[in-house]
Amino acid sequence: MSYQAALTHSKIDPVGFWQKQSELIKWYKTPKSILTQDDEQFYHWYADGELNTAYLALDYHVENGRGEQVALIYDSPVTNTKQQFTYRQLTFEVAKFADVLAKQGVSKGDRVLIYMPMIPQAAIAMLACARLGAIHSVVFGGFAPHELAVRIDDATPKVIVTASCGVEIEKIIPYKPLVDQAIEEAEFKPSTVIVYQRALITAELKQRRDLDWQQEMSNAQDIAPTPVKGNDPLYILYTSGTTGKPKGVVREHGGHAVAMKYSMDVIYGMRAGDVFWAASDVGWVVGHSYIVYGPLLAGCSTVMYEGKPVKTPDAGAFWRVCEEYKVNVLFSAPTAFRAICKEDPKGSEIANYDLSNLKRLYLAGERLDPATYHWLNDITGLPVIDHWWQTETGWAIAGIPVGLETKAPKVGSAGLATPGFQVEILDTEGTPVKSGQSGQIAIKLPLPPGCLSTIWQNPERFKAGYLSTFPGYYVTGDGGYIDDDGYLYIMGRTDDVINVAGHRLSTGEMEEVISNHKDVAECAVIGVKCEIKGQVPLALIVLKNGVAQTLEIHAYLKTLIREQIGPIASLKDVVTLERLPKTRSGKILRKVMRQMIDGEQVQVPSTIDDITILDELEQRFQPIA
Ligand code: COA
Ligand code: AMP
Repeated sequence: MSYQAALTHSKIDPVGFWQKQSELIKWYKTPKSILTQDDEQFYHWYADGELNTAYLALDYHVENGRGEQVALIYDSPVTNTKQQFTYRQLTFEVAKFADVLAKQGVSKGDRVLIYMPMIPQAAIAMLACARLGAIHSVVFGGFAPHELAVRIDDATPKVIVTASCGVEIEKIIPYKPLVDQAIEEAEFKPSTVIVYQRALITAELKQRRDLDWQQEMSNAQDIAPTPVKGNDPLYILYTSGTTGKPKGVVREHGGHAVAMKYSMDVIYGMRAGDVFWAASDVGWVVGHSYIVYGPLLAGCSTVMYEGKPVKTPDAGAFWRVCEEYKVNVLFSAPTAFRAICKEDPKGSEIANYDLSNLKRLYLAGERLDPATYHWLNDITGLPVIDHWWQTETGWAIAGIPVGLETKAPKVGSAGLATPGFQVEILDTEGTPVKSGQSGQIAIKLPLPPGCLSTIWQNPERFKAGYLSTFPGYYVTGDGGYIDDDGYLYIMGRTDDVINVAGHRLSTGEMEEVISNHKDVAECAVIGVKCEIKGQVPLALIVLKNGVAQTLEIHAYLKTLIREQIGPIASLKDVVTLERLPKTRSGKILRKVMRQMIDGEQVQVPSTIDDITILDELEQRFQPIA
C-alpha cells in the first residue's frame, strides 16, 4: 500500500482504518466499539474488546511455533554478562513473577512501581503486571529518591519492584537505599518491596515489607493471563511537564497493542523473527514501546543492553552488539551517536564488525542534527531515519514509514506524518498556517490508538495541558513547520521542557528546587547548547539583598539538583546576576538569555521591561556554544 493511500484512509475513516489493524491481533473478545468517548469527552480505542498484552507478547508466539526463538537478549558489558531467553522461557518467567505479585495481593487495576536497571527482570516485572492486568509504572534509575517519592504518592503502588543495584560504567549504584529513602519521604506506603539481588551487591531487606525476588520465584507457579478490557490501563509513565509535579501518562491495553504491532510493521519494517534493538532504557517511553512491548508483540527478538555507547568498553560497543546478535534495526538517540563520533570521529571501529544484517538506523528523542545524520550515514552507508515522538504518544507521530511505499528522508526533517496522526501547524489563534510557516504543532483529535488516554488521577491536567488550547486538537508542546512536500521540521519545545542527552527534563521543576534555597530571591533555569548532550541546564540566580555571591552557594545548588531530581539533571553551571530580564508583566525572558548564551541572534520582545538590562547581560554572558 502507498503511504498516501494509508494516510488518506486513516484521515477520512479512522474507525475503519483502525478496525482493520485491530484484526491483526488476537482478542479474547473482538471489540465492537472501535472508538468511543467518555464523560470527559476523552477518546478510547477498542473499549469493549478483551485481550491480554502479555499473552499477545509471549504465550501467543509459543502457541504459534516461536517457543524456541529467542525473545530477549540481555547484553551487559558493565557486568560481563550475556543471557538469552526464548519465548517459552520468557513466558515461564513472566507467568511465575505474575504469581509472585499475585501472592502479594496484586490484581487487576493495582499499581506496581518498577525501579530497575537494564536487566531482564525489569521486562519480566513489566510483563508480569500486564499478565495480571495490574498497572505498572516504571521509574528511570537516574531519578533521585525525591522524584521516586513524588511518583509513589501519585501512583499509590501496592508493590515496588527493584534491584539491589545498577551499574553506571564502573560505578555501582545501590538502588535499595534510594527506594527506602523514597518510601520514607512518601506519604503513601507500599505494602511490599521485591528486590532482585544482583551478584555485585546484596541489599538489606526490611522484615515484613521486603522480599527477595529469587527466593519468591523459587516457590512460584506459572499463572494464566487475566483478560482485560481494551480501555483498561496497561501502564502509567511519568514525564516532565512545566511544573514540579510530573505527569502520569496513561496508556491503555487495546490501543497500545494495536499501535505497537502496526508501528513495528509500518514504521520499522520488521517481521517476526527479526532482531530489533532500541538502545535506550526501560525507564523511558522508548524502552516501554521498543525494548519491551513492540518487538515482542511483533514476534521479534529484542536486545536489552546494559551499557553505554562509549566506554563500555569503547566506541565500537554498538557495532559489536549489532554484529553479535545480527541486529536488523538499531534505534537510539542522536546524543548517543554524537558521543561515539567524539571518540571515534572517523568511524574506524565499524571496520572491526560485520554489520551485514543491519538494515536501517532510527533516531529519536531530540532533533537529528544534519552533522550527526551525515556522519552516521557516511560511516555506515545505511539509511538513517529521524522520527519524532513523545512519551504521550507512545509511538512515532512522524517518520519515514518504510513498511509502506513512501518517500526518502530529507535531512533535517523528522519525516512525514504517520498514518493515524493528523498533524497540523497552528498559529497563536489556532488557525492552520500555510506550508513553510512555523507555528505550534498540533494533532487533530482523535489521536490514534496507543496515545495517552488521560493523565493519571488528573483529567483536568490532561485538558488544561493538551486539549483546551485549541479545541479539537492535542497540542504537542513542540513548534515547527511542514514543507510543501509534507515533511515536518521540529524546531524545539515551546514550553519549559528541555532535552538533556535524550532525557526530557522540566526547567520549572529545577527552578522550584533552586528557589527553595533561603538565599535565592529568584531564578531561571534554561537549556543551553551542548555538543554531546544537545542541551544542558544552566541556572541563573538572583540572590537576596545582603547575601554575597559565593562559590559555596553555587556548588550547593548543583548538589541540591542532583539530590532532588537526580544525576541526569546535573546543572552545567550556576550564574549569579543582579537581576533577570523580564517583560512588563513580570515574565522572565528565558529565551533572550538562552539566545545570548548560545550565541544566536537575540530576538528582543517589545514587551521588555527595561532594555538596559540587555547590555548588562551581554557583558556577563560569553557564548559557551
Ligand atoms: N541510574 C543511575 N544513574 C544514572 C542512570 C541510571 N539509569 N543513567 C544515568 N545516570 C547518571 C550517570 O551515571 C551520570 O552520573 P554522573 O554525573 O555522576 O557521572 C549522570 O546520570 C548523567 O548521565 P547521562 O546523562 O547519561 O550522561 P553521561 O555523560 O553519563 O552519558 C551519553 C552521555 C550521551 C553517553 C548517555 O546519555 C547516553 O547514552 N544517552 C543515550 C540516551 C538515551 O538512551 N535516551 C533515551 C531516549 S531514546
Ligand atoms: P519524551 O517525551 O521524553 O520522548 O520527549 C519528547 C520530546 O522530545 C518531544 O516533544 C520533542 O521536543 C523531543 N523530540 C523527540 N523526538 C524528536 C525528534 N525526532 N526531533 C525533534 N525533537 C524530538
